[in-house]
Amino acid sequence: LPSGHRRLLEAHRYAEEFYRHLLLNTVEGEEALNYLYGRGFTRDTIEKFGIGWSLGNRESLVTLLKRKGFSDEELSESGLAIIPDNGSGAFDRFRNRVMFPLHDTNGKTVGFSGRVIQKAGNEPKYLNSPETPIFNKSEILYNYHNARLAARKSGNVILFEGFMDVISADEAGIQSGVALMGTAMSDKHLSLLGRVTNEVIICTDGDNAGWEAARRFSRMFPTNRLDAKVAIVPEGLDPDDYLKKYGGEAFRDRIIGQPHTLLSFAMMYAKREKNLKNENDLLQYIHEVLKELAGKTTPVERDIYLKQLSEETGVSVDALTSQFRKSE
Ligand code: UTP
Ligand code: MN
Ligand code: MN
Ligand code: MN
Ligand code: MN
Repeated sequence: LPSGHRRLLEAHRYAEEFYRHLLLNTVEGEEALNYLYGRGFTRDTIEKFGIGWSLGNRESLVTLLKRKGFSDEELSESGLAIIPDNGSGAFDRFRNRVMFPLHDTNGKTVGFSGRVIQKAGNEPKYLNSPETPIFNKSEILYNYHNARLAARKSGNVILFEGFMDVISADEAGIQSGVALMGTAMSDKHLSLLGRVTNEVIICTDGDNAGWEAARRFSRMFPTNRLDAKVAIVPEGLDPDDYLKKYGGEAFRDRIIGQPHTLLSFAMMYAKREKNLKNENDLLQYIHEVLKELAGKTTPVERDIYLKQLSEETGVSVDALTSQFRKSE
């Protein structure tokens, strides 16, 4: 471990402890704590995930870390502080935000994501640490260090879009959840997943962006070693919303417990926003599904899905099959 890295990790340990203390033990943290309780998170969960609060002052963390012997340059390199162009000293990057520590694969805190409690202007809802020598978003899955252990028992890993979904699922007893940090899925992410499981359940938000994300993620599977399925959250809810509305049992039984195969998801995706009573939509739908089937499918899968397609569209299996052969 380069000694610079050790310093950056140390700064993050102090920061996490500082933010945590502010949230749990101070008047300044009360509103944020109530915000979290209001969202249904318990004290145990808040502590388990190391959640904290950053003050509104420009230099509260900077002051603390300087007292611990960190230089402006180190603080800037850590991403915890920013050095402005005008030559004045480093100031806190995270202010007035609920702080979520982000861990590397070994569980060491290497960055933060901070959420505003109330959006006032056009500031981002979540502010993340910048890329640093120890933090690279495309190499990090939120909660990976915990999920890798849980996955041994559950046999799968659940891939969420947001870390709030991971935290809610954990509270409901589902501990094998991970989340991308608002970024595209990388090959590194795939290989991290492949190291701890051979089954990934993609469970993105139920809104349009979530469907698009599920489509993108699903196309990066199957790698030969990783089997993926897609769990759909209804009513445009995200997994956290669903858990709070219907509870953990419903989420386990109806959502995570009934995931769709990639092909079945591809058909649902193709059908979305189409009216199969409309001839153009119908032809387009058949075209898209046949294209999907021409991919990496087995003869048995083809048989199953051609039958299903026939039932949905009223076109005979024979016609679909000969069309399929032509398009192959
Ligand atoms: P969402 O907008 O779905 O967040 O973004 P969420 O998990 O539902 O959060 P709540 O419930 O509103 O608090 C999913 C993920 O995208 C990234 C975050 O990592 C978030 O977990 N994101 C989102 C950002 O990085 N910045 C943003 O401003 C918004
Ligand atoms: Mn921690
Ligand atoms: Mn979303
Ligand atoms: Mn969401
Ligand atoms: Mn949410």
